[in-house]
Amino acid sequence: MKYYFAPMEGITLYPLRNTHKKMFGDLVDKYFTPFLTAHHNNHFKKREKKDALPENIDLAVFNDYGHQIIPQIMSNKVESFVWAAKEMSTLGYKEVNLNLGCPAATVTNSHKGSGLLIDTDYLDKFLDGIFEELSDEPIEISLKTRLGFYSEDETETLMKIYARYPVKELTIHARVREDFYKGEPRLQAFDTAVQSYRDNGGSADICYNGNITGVKRSVVSDHEGAGTTSDPIIEELRSLHCYNEISAIMIGRGLLSDPALARELAGGSKLSASELKEYLTHLYEGYETYIPEERNVIFKLLEHWAFLECHFKDSEKCIKTIRKARSKGEYFAAVNNIFSTCEFISAY
Ligand SMILES: Cc1cc2nc3c(=O)[nH]c(=O)nc-3n(C[C@H](O)[C@H](O)[C@H](O)COP(=O)(O)O)c2cc1C
Repeated sequence: MKYYFAPMEGITLYPLRNTHKKMFGDLVDKYFTPFLTAHHNNHFKKREKKDALPENIDLAVFNDYGHQIIPQIMSNKVESFVWAAKEMSTLGYKEVNLNLGCPAATVTNSHKGSGLLIDTDYLDKFLDGIFEELSDEPIEISLKTRLGFYSEDETETLMKIYARYPVKELTIHARVREDFYKGEPRLQAFDTAVQSYRDNGGSADICYNGNITGVKRSVVSDHEGAGTTSDPIIEELRSLHCYNEISAIMIGRGLLSDPALARELAGGSKLSASELKEYLTHLYEGYETYIPEERNVIFKLLEHWAFLECHFKDSEKCIKTIRKARSKGEYFAAVNNIFSTCEFISAY
């Protein structure tokens, strides 16, 4: 099984990608950038373009970045998507991913992200246009979709459409738009979707996404300290008809909560306190190159702490001190304090 780091707006930027790949990335095959909006007059915002520039990639760890980092494009116009894909090709990328899943109203109201799933005639024409225009370019197109906008009843039509095109990889987030990111993933509907996609001749690699979070993860210990990490969703996926069709699992929040999750799922060792501490230090250094103001670097790290505080027992007071830090010195003093004061929980 391959593991991918999901695209996450404002989070899976190059400081995180470089740091994560260096420390925990041996078993993470692909890192997706947060979506880059291909604006109609063919430009990216400077900040978004910066995230994709090869000069910001740690080439010592991404030795084949063209295949290891996948820029995700947000677009609903053939011309702008094609322009964006060619730009990414020029930068050395070999695959771009089309965002068909973003549930935010600001995005869907302008018929982008999962908003493209509503008008399936338009979606079909759009895909026809981009695959046709890019057929001779040295870049492949993958899709990240949901099962529908309103309901699972839409899935089959979507799968029929996707099956018509030479999609490199089809990632299915096992929810409909109306679910946003809440509730249990719809695994039966995912199973039906994959079967329907194959029945209609779709040959793309299949990637599962949704709630491989590490939360409620069971650690089956064989003897003290050792154990196998299993994830309840992966266990359920194993029982589906389509399981053998899944070649990759994309993880978002789970990797933010536990950066070592891919290693653990593959049978490797659990996250240690010293690794997490080192990771946080490198992450800080990485964000310092990306964000000029010290306070904003700290705010960025606090986004990570929201996912990481679960590793520390009885940590409310220590977390509060981290949240109050307004300088690098205060921040690191508070971080050192939580590591020395609170019991570390590697799996939870
Ligand atoms: C804060 C946040 C930002 C996200 N940004 C993106 C994005 O830019 N592109 C995208 O396709 N999905 C985005 N997603 C969705 C994730 O890629 C993923 O599909 C979702 O988190 C479910 O996977 P998980 O349960 O492993 O976290 C985002 C999700 C969150 C919570």
